[in-house]
Amino acid sequence: MKTKHLISLKDLSRAEIEEIFDLAVKLKANPSAYASALKGKSLAMIFQKPSTRTRVSFEVGMFQLGGTALYLGADDIQLHRGETIADTARVLSRFVNGIMARVFAHQDLLDLAKHGTVPVINGLSDLLHPVQALADYFTLWERRGSLDGLKMAYIGDGNNVCHELLFGAAKFGMTMAVACPEGYDPNPLVVKSAAREAQKVGAPPPIVTRDPMEAAAGADAVYTDVWTSMGQEEEAAARVQAFQGYMVSSEMMAAAGPEAVFMHCLPAHRGEEVAAEVIDGPRSVVFDEAENRLHVQKAALILMLG
Ligand code: CP
Ligand code: NVA
Repeated sequence: MKTKHLISLKDLSRAEIEEIFDLAVKLKANPSAYASALKGKSLAMIFQKPSTRTRVSFEVGMFQLGGTALYLGADDIQLHRGETIADTARVLSRFVNGIMARVFAHQDLLDLAKHGTVPVINGLSDLLHPVQALADYFTLWERRGSLDGLKMAYIGDGNNVCHELLFGAAKFGMTMAVACPEGYDPNPLVVKSAAREAQKVGAPPPIVTRDPMEAAAGADAVYTDVWTSMGQEEEAAARVQAFQGYMVSSEMMAAAGPEAVFMHCLPAHRGEEVAAEVIDGPRSVVFDEAENRLHVQKAALILMLG
C-alpha cells in the first residue's frame, strides 16, 4: 500500500483497497500465520469519543499480530490540559509506529498526519469513518465476489458513515442512493467529490432523495445508521421527529433486490432507524460487518506498519 495514512477511502486507489481485502481474506482464514507480523510494533489509540468495536478490534488486532496497542482516552492524556494535537503527534511519533484516532473535528486527524511522522488511521471523525466502510464493502465483496455495478441504498442521516460509504461506492463503480429527510442530507462537498470519483470509473453519480422506497428499490444492500451521532445528543428529540418514516422496514427490504442484505455499522436502536425484525432477521449481516472490522484492520495495519 503506497498511501501512508488511512484517513478516507477517497485517498486510496481501488487497487490499494483490494490489496487490503486480499490480505484480509488470508488473515481471516489463517490468523495464526500472522502471529508475528507486527512483532515489537505499537499503535497509540486516541479516543475523544466512546467505542466498543473500534477499540476492541484494533486492540485485539494488534495483539493477534504480535504487537501492542495503547488506549489513550482524551481525558487521560495531556490533550485534555491543552497540549496541542501537533505536539501530541510529534511526541507519539517518537514512541509508537502508528496512531489511530477517534475525534470530533476531522481537522484533528489531518493535523496528526501533518505533524507526526508515523501513519495515522481514522477511527471515526465527525466527517468520515473509513475503517467501517472498509469492513462493510469487504462484507459485501465476500458474499458477492465483486462489487461492480451493485447498488447500495443508505437510508437515514447523511452522516460520517454515509459519507465514507459514498466514497467507497464510487471507488468500486457501485450505484449509491441516499434517502434523508430535509436538513439531514450528506455534506454536498462530499457528494460532489464522490460524484467526481464515480465519473472517473464510469459509475453513475450518487442520488440523494427524500424517498426511502426509491433509494431501496432494487438495492443489493440497504444500510442505515443512528439518527443521533456521538456529539449530537442535544438534538436527539428533534431528530426523532425529523426522521419519522425513515426507519428501515420489512417493506423497504422487500423493495430491494432478491439478494439484498441489511447493513448497519452498530450500535443500533431497534424501533428507531431499523425495525427489530429487519436487524434480527435473516437478511441482516450486521455481526459479519462487526467481525470483519478485525480482519480488514489487521490487513491495513500490516500494510501500513509492517
Ligand atoms: N461501528 C463502530 O465504529 O462502533 P464503535 O463506536 O463501537 O467503535
Ligand atoms: N454515526 C455514528 C457512528 C458510530 C459508529 C456516530 O458518529 O456516532
